[in-house]
Amino acid sequence: MHRNFLFDLDQTLLDFHASEYKAHEILNGNELLFYNEYESFYKMTGNSKAFENFCREAFGQDFSQDGFSDINQIDRILKYIPKGEDVHILDVGCGNGKMLGYLQDKTGAYIHGFDYSESAIDTAKKLFQTKADFKQGNIGETDYPAEQFDLVVSMDSMYFAPDMEKFVLQIMRWLKKDGVLFVGYQEGDVMPKTDNEKTTVLARALDNCGIQYEVEDITSETYELLKKKRDAALLYQKDFEKEGNKDWLDLLLLQTDCVTEGYDSFTQKMARYIYVVRKNELGRRG
Ligand SMILES: C[S@@+](CC[C@H](N)C(=O)[O-])C[C@H]1O[C@@H](n2cnc3c(N)ncnc32)[C@H](O)[C@@H]1O
Repeated sequence: MHRNFLFDLDQTLLDFHASEYKAHEILNGNELLFYNEYESFYKMTGNSKAFENFCREAFGQDFSQDGFSDINQIDRILKYIPKGEDVHILDVGCGNGKMLGYLQDKTGAYIHGFDYSESAIDTAKKLFQTKADFKQGNIGETDYPAEQFDLVVSMDSMYFAPDMEKFVLQIMRWLKKDGVLFVGYQEGDVMPKTDNEKTTVLARALDNCGIQYEVEDITSETYELLKKKRDAALLYQKDFEKEGNKDWLDLLLLQTDCVTEGYDSFTQKMARYIYVVRKNELGRRG
């Protein structure tokens, strides 16, 4: 089975039952999962015009995406950003900060982000210096004071939490009382495919913590997005090759192999959801 992230996991990971998932089980000894791969990825994105053009073509904007966050998904975030002078957004696994930069452009909000990749955070610090705070840090270890953020965004990064329930509760603590958590979440990639949006590792963690959520199934648009990704990779094939980045091109094609099959077969293996948690209205009971 091909997965869409840039890197592959041991097949045994997919065999874990959702409720048994703990990210410490996907750490390689003391090494953080995929650390070196993400370092190479963010170094490549800093130098590759082909990848920049590929992102624009596939996702509608270049945020150096590794995965599934196209502009339609990112624009869904905008309505959760309040108007005002003192609005703060945090992006978990923010990469080089380009998505946050876009949200700041649109709203004027303060942007905060953390990611374990040194290259990504170095770039973010260079690119965004106004009302911006970026730090290198691990999910599960990095902390912020309580009630700091109006919005916490996690696009394809919750999977790396060493303990999903703990991390969800930590985010709830970081949110202001009317704050919102917005999550883009893929199954059949890093996380195992479960029955539906209520059985994912994240949904179960939220349930176990007594946290209510709204969820939208965006699997069909993700299928279309992956087709676009494949076409965009092929469109820039020669440019990738000229740059000496053929390996990344091959990876993009491997990642999108799943859409060479029909939609029904795709949905057997993969699903994508957007989860929204409102701390005030739908947050913790009691
Ligand atoms: C799948 S990518 C998503 C990146 C970006 N949010 C997007 O939507 O394109 C996962 C991101 O999480 C970061 N990451 C992975 N494991 C992490 C960890 N344990 N602690 C902090 N960041 C991590 C990676 O460097 C990468 O930027």
